[in-house]
Amino acid sequence: MLVLGIETTCDETAAAVVERTDEGAGRILSNIVLSQNDEHADFGGVVPEIAARAHVEVIDRIVAQAMREADVRFADLDGVAAAAGPGLIGGVIVGLTTAKAIALVENKPLMAVNHLEAHALTARLTDKIDFPYCLFLASGGHTQVLAVRGVGDYVRLGTTMDDAIGEAFDKTAKLLGLGYPGGPQVEKEAAKGNATRFALPRPMQHRKEPDFSLSGLKTALRLEAEAIAPLSDDDVADLCASFQQAVVDVVQDRLRAGLKVFAARYGAPNALVAAGGVAANKPIRDTLQTLAGEAGIALVLPPLQLCTDNGAMIAWAGAERLALGLTDKFDVAPKARWPLDEVAAARGRKLNTAAYK
Ligand code: KG4
Ligand code: ZN
Repeated sequence: MLVLGIETTCDETAAAVVERTDEGAGRILSNIVLSQNDEHADFGGVVPEIAARAHVEVIDRIVAQAMREADVRFADLDGVAAAAGPGLIGGVIVGLTTAKAIALVENKPLMAVNHLEAHALTARLTDKIDFPYCLFLASGGHTQVLAVRGVGDYVRLGTTMDDAIGEAFDKTAKLLGLGYPGGPQVEKEAAKGNATRFALPRPMQHRKEPDFSLSGLKTALRLEAEAIAPLSDDDVADLCASFQQAVVDVVQDRLRAGLKVFAARYGAPNALVAAGGVAANKPIRDTLQTLAGEAGIALVLPPLQLCTDNGAMIAWAGAERLALGLTDKFDVAPKARWPLDEVAAARGRKLNTAAYK
């Protein structure tokens, strides 16, 4: 089946066409992502109203480009999917309304996909892995450890009490006068610095539940920086290195706890899977490799362009849902908040009423 997917929940306007075979294999026919980084750079973060307006301006062009590159007509599609949340509501409305319009005019099923669900299912598009698996989702807006047990069957094992990891990277970059988005800049500076110069805390260490907290670490970093300001280039590099090492240690400790909780509840997972922009960070990727090795399971790291926000993950999640008959009505509402455990799943057996006449 062929599905068009649209993503507009944050600062990427994205559309893609993905094919899913009856056996569950995936193929990306096109994947167009337009990032609004330049629009938000002056503010050091995403400005919701600017994001919504930017989505409106480019969405038609991005969808047309995705269809053209895939060499597919709307009539060829089996369904249309859009991220219906969670996210910045102005942007979500743009993407979902566009998908509804196309589905309505072309008389195709609509799939209102949860953005986090799409991150969670991407590893099945790239690596065709079986359920259940343990997902570490770390982006600018989310930090969660999830048990992915089936399409629509997600259990959140842990989350952050305050900042998302990507958000902490972004704020650290802003504090130190580096650019936006901050993650890649902090990683670059950290590579030149001394990670042991500043003694920063590792919040939540050794707790049983795999929850995160980053505000104490951020405060400690700010106090160290204030104490030595104005900062030299070496100071900035050392602060970045010390911060990143603390985050790496936190990720290792918290995910180790997560894998333990997973195994106790559901048995060994088939894989450890990473998603979200933070999975681009090399030291964090190395740590995930160590953890998977310890647990004796595979590590699935989708290619970077599929770890960050994109349309292919939405199209794929839509295809996985469509294959199970999980479509949505046209009055489905966009949602700013939409926890994964509130995503509808196919439960029990489908009735075959056509055969019972
Ligand atoms: O998944 P994503 O593209 O967008 C959402 O937030 O949904 O993730 C973006 C986040 C930003 O906070 C960015 O700073 C962070 O991922 N990030 C990184 C790196 N690359 C991106 N964080 C640490 N190291 C990186 N190399
Ligand atoms: Zn995302």
